[in-house]
Amino acid sequence: DFEISPETKEKIKNTVLNLPKDESWLTPYHLYQGFWTIPHFLEGDILAHHFFKAEPTDIFICSVPKSGTTWLKALTFAIVSRTHFNTNSSPLLQKVPHDCVPFLPDFATNFDIREPGLPLISTHVPYTCLPKSALELDSNCKIVYICREPKDAFISLYHFIAKRRDKELSLDKALDQFCQGNSLYGPYWDHVLGFWKASQDKPGKVFFLKYEEMMKDTAFYVKKLAEFMDCPFSPEEEKQGRVQEIMELCSFESLKTLEVNKSGIWQPSLARVENNTFFRKGKIGDWKNWLTPDMAERLDKIMDEKLSGSGLTF
Ligand code: A3P
Repeated sequence: DFEISPETKEKIKNTVLNLPKDESWLTPYHLYQGFWTIPHFLEGDILAHHFFKAEPTDIFICSVPKSGTTWLKALTFAIVSRTHFNTNSSPLLQKVPHDCVPFLPDFATNFDIREPGLPLISTHVPYTCLPKSALELDSNCKIVYICREPKDAFISLYHFIAKRRDKELSLDKALDQFCQGNSLYGPYWDHVLGFWKASQDKPGKVFFLKYEEMMKDTAFYVKKLAEFMDCPFSPEEEKQGRVQEIMELCSFESLKTLEVNKSGIWQPSLARVENNTFFRKGKIGDWKNWLTPDMAERLDKIMDEKLSGSGLTF
């Protein structure tokens, strides 16, 4: 029940319009507080940073785009809503996972983005740009973060953008941009490091996941996620195979073949994305099919340098 004044909204609109811009990825990215993103999302991200009131029960689902967000949304949604739905009645069968979890940029037009009964809220902003209320010391809300091996994340981003543009996007040029830190919600390393450090400082608050580890032992991480979100699987549920059911429902193969994910459209906050672009290959190491050894080495070197001393490796 609160209103943000028209002046505040106008001020934020103008801030977004006047930020440094770059069109190397064929669409304007604006630089805000050290990270690049599309203006369509920024207004809601900034408003939410200042005005979103985090509740102790909120769980923020965070990631750099192309790191496994769709999968993490599906899994967390299926886990927290499993007492309401079984796998035959899950909304995941009818809606793209992005439509099952409220998305923070939508705060620009709707201050009441929470879904009743659902603790999840998703965002791509870096750690320091999360809603202030969520970062306060006494805030008990939780944060789940997924990241991915940078070369695979880069290749996934490249295809995601290239597929959606008419003009050709050169892989070399895209890699240049990525290595300079100019990528969607990048610099990639800053994004990952922000959440990594937070997870080291506050392990009870921030759960840091890697796509590759989740792929290797999904059942383990489904159970860990449930524990972290305060809804652990009971021994009976485990015996009934609920963990496996959720894994299968959310697997790349099942989601990819659903009609909604083949032909539907996701339309968050002024953006428009064909759902099928979220389901490309879903494999570890696809970068080997695209990057020359020199290109791979270039990105590896930068990542090693940026992550050195942090304890985080890929
Ligand atoms: P690829 O482009 O390598 O195939 P995001 O969801 O953050 O946009 O990330 C998209 C990447 O996750 C894509 O990687 C996509 O194929 C993969 N992906 C989508 N759904 C998945 C799932 N259920 N399990 C594993 N990977 C998935």
